[in-house]
Amino acid sequence: MFALPLTDTAELRPLSPWHAEEFLANLDRCREHISPWVGPSFVATDLDSARQVLQRYADRWARDDGGIWGIWDAGVLVGGVMFLSLDVAEGVCEAGCWLEPAAEGRGLVTRAAGRIIDWAIRDRGVHRVEWHTNARNARSIAVARRLGMTLDGTLRQRYPGQSGRIDVEVWSVLAPEWRAPA
Ligand SMILES: CC(C)(COP(=O)(O)OP(=O)(O)OC[C@H]1O[C@@H](n2cnc3c(N)ncnc32)[C@H](O)[C@@H]1OP(=O)(O)O)[C@@H](O)C(=O)NCCC(=O)NCCS
Repeated sequence: MFALPLTDTAELRPLSPWHAEEFLANLDRCREHISPWVGPSFVATDLDSARQVLQRYADRWARDDGGIWGIWDAGVLVGGVMFLSLDVAEGVCEAGCWLEPAAEGRGLVTRAAGRIIDWAIRDRGVHRVEWHTNARNARSIAVARRLGMTLDGTLRQRYPGQSGRIDVEVWSVLAPEWRAPA
C-alpha cells in the first residue's frame, strides 16, 4: 500500500506485526548469516517471537522512538532497515539493517537506509544519525561509508561475545553533511 521503489524489482514498505510469517521466513533464510552481527532478541525462531519483534517496533513507532521497514524484492521480504532508537527532541537516532545473503551486493540496504535517514533528517529535523557496528563487520562498515558516515570512534570491548569481548564502532552522519551536495 505504501511502497517506495528501490530498484526495478525492490521496494521499501512498513513492516508490521501482521507480516510475522514473512518475517520469520526471511529470518529462516538468513539466521546463521545475521546472528553474529545483530542482537539475539531480533533473530526470532518461531511465529510468536517474530510477531513480538515486530510488535516491539510497532510500539516504538507509536511512541515515536523507533521504527522498522522491510525490503521486498519481487514480492519476497529479503531484509530491512530500522531505527533502533529515535529521539526527535535531542535530534539523534540510530539506524540498523539486515539482509538475506541472496539479496546482498545490489545496494538494497544502502538505498533503503538512505531513504529512512532522509526522512529522519529532512522530515523530522534529526541532526545526528548513528550506525553502531561490530568492528569486524566489514559489510556493515562498508554501508556506513557508502552513506557518507564518519567514524566517531570505537567502544572497546563493549559487549561479551562468544570469542571474547566485542569492539563496537560508532559511525554517524550529521544533518548539514547529509544535506550537502555530493
Ligand atoms: C550489512 C548488510 C545489510 C550489507 O549488505 P550489502 O548487500 O553488502 O549492502 P548493500 O545492500 O548496501 O549493497 C552494497 C553492495 O552492492 C553493490 N551495489 C550495487 N549497486 C549499488 C548501488 N546502486 N548503491 C550501492 N551499492 C551498490 C556495492 O558495490 C556493494 O557490493 P560489494 O560489497 O560486493 O562491493 C548485510 O551484509 C547483512 O545483512 N549482514 C548481516 C547483518 C548485519 O551485519 N547487520 C548490520 C548490523 S550493524
